Amino acid sequence: MTATICGTGSYIPSYTMDNNDIARLVETSDEWIRERTGVARRHIIQDETTVSMAAEAARRALNDAGVSPEEVDLIIVSTISSNVILPCAACEVQKELGAVHATCFDLSAACTGFVLAYNTALAYLTSGVYRTALLIGSESLSNLTNWKDRGTCILFGDGAGAAVLRSDDVAGTEMFPIYDPGKYFLPVTHSEGAKGGALTCKSRHDFNGLTGEKHQACQDHQADAESMLDESHYMQMDGQAVFKFAVKKVPEVIGEVLKLNQVAPEEIDYYIMHQANKRIVEAVAKRLDEPMEKFPMNLQEYGNTSSASIPILLDELNREGKLKPGQKLVLAGFGAGLTWGASIIEWH
Ligand code: UT7
Repeated sequence: MTATICGTGSYIPSYTMDNNDIARLVETSDEWIRERTGVARRHIIQDETTVSMAAEAARRALNDAGVSPEEVDLIIVSTISSNVILPCAACEVQKELGAVHATCFDLSAACTGFVLAYNTALAYLTSGVYRTALLIGSESLSNLTNWKDRGTCILFGDGAGAAVLRSDDVAGTEMFPIYDPGKYFLPVTHSEGAKGGALTCKSRHDFNGLTGEKHQACQDHQADAESMLDESHYMQMDGQAVFKFAVKKVPEVIGEVLKLNQVAPEEIDYYIMHQANKRIVEAVAKRLDEPMEKFPMNLQEYGNTSSASIPILLDELNREGKLKPGQKLVLAGFGAGLTWGASIIEWH
């Protein structure tokens, strides 16, 4: 039994901030941001939330797949920036869609999140547990961005992408089949928590009502809700460390996944990489000795949308008619944790 992506969707907030808008907040320039990152503008939520964007991206993906909400067995929302802690964002999406039969949970693995959501759903589908999965990456990173820190605020943006994954046994005869190598591609993923300090964001819910202990920032600034947050409550990043990690580990993990599945680089039509920095994408292409045409990018328009970047890019390629049946794609994510991984998919 195997499973294929049979529909994609995305939702992008209409409000944009270009690099000149950012230059009015911090000491930077359009030229520096374009040259060092490739980003020209990013879309930022206004009335939208992580859940509302996830639900709209999901609606569009279901529509593209021709699948009704009632047919969905599994909803996974990958996010680090949900507007709800309880219930999980996936349950909120279920409610919005009326996907009454779905099992729902969130997944938190930052920019590798969508690849891990795909792998998780694939495991469920190929083992016969579920047949139809809705995978969503949705992020409101503008809520986690320190708009006074030029090392991070130039990079991030908001948005959501979704995909419908279906097993080829929709008729429902084969339950819990024995693993059949060759029918689908095995993923390769890694984590290195010891290096997690390179990209962090502290929880905003660290007031302990039992002991009465508040974090220091709360004690210092009780009068003003916004100033209760110190810098550690926004994303903090050692940009150079993350950059070095990405340009080393991403080509390595792509090499591993190709070797494991005995697929040659020439057989890959597109490498759908997490959209963090144009220079990272270019460095990965160079190390793999693969042409840049195989590395589509949209970070110039959206910035880094964490776990939403891969499904948004996938949806754009799909809607532009660039994906053809039988094509092989590599999805590659990397980011906070540290986590990284790659999966091969064959387009339906
Ligand atoms: O989703 C995954 C997580 N994130 C990433 O993948 C991000 C990975 N890292 C990066 O993309 C890059 O490291 C950044 C874009 C964040 C920074 O670019 P960089 O080329 O590594 O810059 P840098 O930190 O080495 O700084 C170079 C110079 C410094 O000035 P001096 O010391 O050479 O005079 C910085 O102070 O550029 C300065 N600088 C800036 N100048 C204008 C740093 N940020 C800015 C800025 N505007 N926004």
